[in-house]
Amino acid sequence: MTEQDLYREVFERNRQWVAKRIAQDPSFFEHLAKEQHPAFLFIGCADSRVPASTIMGIEPGEVFVHRNVANLVVNTDSNSLATIHYAVDHLKVKFVVVCGHYGCGGVKAAMQPRDLGILNGWLREIRDVYRLHQEELDGIADPVARERRLVELNVQEQCLNVIKTAVVQRNFLKREAPTVHGWVYDLSTGLLKDLEIPFKESLEKVRELYRLTPDSRKDFDL
Ligand code: CO
Repeated sequence: MTEQDLYREVFERNRQWVAKRIAQDPSFFEHLAKEQHPAFLFIGCADSRVPASTIMGIEPGEVFVHRNVANLVVNTDSNSLATIHYAVDHLKVKFVVVCGHYGCGGVKAAMQPRDLGILNGWLREIRDVYRLHQEELDGIADPVARERRLVELNVQEQCLNVIKTAVVQRNFLKREAPTVHGWVYDLSTGLLKDLEIPFKESLEKVRELYRLTPDSRKDFDL
């Protein structure tokens, strides 16, 4: 199929999908149009091979999604920060997931010593992750294994960036949610791996330096 054919066919596929959904549940769209209560905020890579709800095996309405190159949560990026704020404060998601993937083009590019123009600033975030973990990464001789480890460490650091936000600290201290989780998706197997980042310990550690809210529930003006 040519790309032109695919372009036209998307609308036909959309109609087929709608018909199938309505056949399964006549009120499917009526129900979804009213409200959303996703349990998850998924922060993932923009890579076309990592579609959040598909790999999670869940339905429309179950995951709020933010994607960018290499799943970064950057302090000056109002896009990701607004998404986190809305998902956590208004939708009251229970889980914030940062999901990286092995074979990430953004991570690969950041490991190349090259001027990549407008990407330099964005990829600097990944180079900073490398610098934070340079001893461990430089100790991995196999370049593929080193790159895979950087994917994992990047997820770990972006989880900490999520935890550094006031909205996450305040919500967790008020309602014990959201918890923050780091996953890596393996393109070659389709499997998700939970990096099992210890959320409560990470929160305590982060709050030693990035304490943006009071310590306990009683200190909040609820
Ligand atoms: Co990627």
